[in-house]
Amino acid sequence: MTVQTYYLANPEKTVEFGQLLAKCLPSKGLIFLQGNLGAGKTTLIGSVIKAMGHKGSTKSPTYTIVEPYLINSENPQKIYHFDLYRLADPEELEYIGIRDYIDEDALCFVEWPDKGKGFLPLPDMIISLEYQNEARKIALEVITQKWLSEFRQLDKFDKPSEQAIN
Ligand SMILES: Nc1ncnc2c1ncn2[C@@H]1O[C@H](COP(=O)(O)OP(=O)(O)OP(=O)(O)O)[C@@H](O)[C@H]1O
Ligand SMILES: [Mg+2]
Repeated sequence: MTVQTYYLANPEKTVEFGQLLAKCLPSKGLIFLQGNLGAGKTTLIGSVIKAMGHKGSTKSPTYTIVEPYLINSENPQKIYHFDLYRLADPEELEYIGIRDYIDEDALCFVEWPDKGKGFLPLPDMIISLEYQNEARKIALEVITQKWLSEFRQLDKFDKPSEQAIN
């Protein structure tokens, strides 16, 4: 398991990070996003979805649990954006048919994965967003090691330790 952390000074940096992250990701996988309310999870996922070629807006699936995207570009890409915040019981994931989504040839992003504890498999990567004063710190915990080789592209982002914290 490898953890890499970066500093995101403002919302624009989160968007920029998402654009670069989109280039590093394979076409299939499961990604968890952790972090408090308003940490920037939806902002980041929205940026990845757009960078992968989705035209038009993206929305937070807070009430619908899942939002599907089928990107018909040169490289077609299916994306499922889950937000489990309003899940009353993790077992609901069974009725939604969570396994079928994950088994598809798609990228699955899951906000609030803790709410689905016991009904979600181990992810390929865990992204954690954390408040750092007005800015954010992002940590990427890569579990599927073969994903790592592409992640060098993110090295241009600042490291949190290089920032003055006061
Ligand atoms: N690096 C950043 N620095 C400061 N603000 C940021 C940064 N990235 C995103 N934000 C802002 O944080 C706010 C909340 O973002 P967002 O809705 O993406 O959070 P979230 O983690 O999805 O929240 P929730 O848990 O409610 O779904 C937005 O106003 C966004 O512009
Ligand atoms: Mg959100």
